[in-house]
Amino acid sequence: MREEHPRPRAERLDLLNAIPRPFITPSLLNCDFARVAEELEALEQAGAHAVHLDVMDGHFVPNLSYGAPVIADWRKRTDFPFDTHLMISEPGRYLDDFVAAGCDVIIFHIEVVPEPLALIERIQAAGCQAALALNPPTPFAAIAPYLDAVDAILVMSVMPGFGGQTFEASVLDKVRAARAVRPDLRISIDGGIKPTTATAAVAAGAGQLVAGSAVFRKPGNYAAALAELAEGAHRGRARVGGGDSAPTAEAPSRE
Ligand code: DX5
Ligand code: ZN
Repeated sequence: MREEHPRPRAERLDLLNAIPRPFITPSLLNCDFARVAEELEALEQAGAHAVHLDVMDGHFVPNLSYGAPVIADWRKRTDFPFDTHLMISEPGRYLDDFVAAGCDVIIFHIEVVPEPLALIERIQAAGCQAALALNPPTPFAAIAPYLDAVDAILVMSVMPGFGGQTFEASVLDKVRAARAVRPDLRISIDGGIKPTTATAAVAAGAGQLVAGSAVFRKPGNYAAALAELAEGAHRGRARVGGGDSAPTAEAPSRE
């Protein structure tokens, strides 16, 4: 059915922009890759609004995952917005493939594209949202000049490459810094998110929480896992006070 009538990208992005913040985005990295279509269906039933796709090249990170042809097949089976995290050394070289595969948000790393404006513009010209990611050791200053150009940022709270690592709380200073400069920006955090760290991340200003092992540790009960994470996230929002600086639903991202 969806293969014949896929939702257009612009509609998928409208849906993504409309998700009340803070929200949880499941990362498929720990799903059952033998039955991804069923996993996507289960996530939809559980109330997820988007999925995070981790693309690894064995070069920028010491692990391999999947690439554009695999994502293109998943796109035939779901209308989820694809939040696509490119942990690859040459994102510009493969960008067109990911756009054609049906990705919606294209996240690339400042560590491999230190002059990112041209790539940000290419991504946006293709109708996608562009996001910059930075690893735990990379300073906020590396992305600060580009906060007006991007649709979102992704603050890594573990070194990228593997699920199931421990959250590095020191990166929350970068979340606070970005929030102070652009209060409406969608700030995503990725790595080691569980209910307690979700609270801390949202209190610092994160609006999107990527979670892999915390969702897929409960096979068959993703709704419960998502609910626990959402509770943790909302505790963080209460901690910020729900005032103007809180990453609320009303704050639209660019586009
Ligand atoms: C790690 C990936 C993450 C990963 C998160 O390199 O970028 O998206 O799936 O997994 P957890 O939530 O288990 O830390
Ligand atoms: Zn990721």
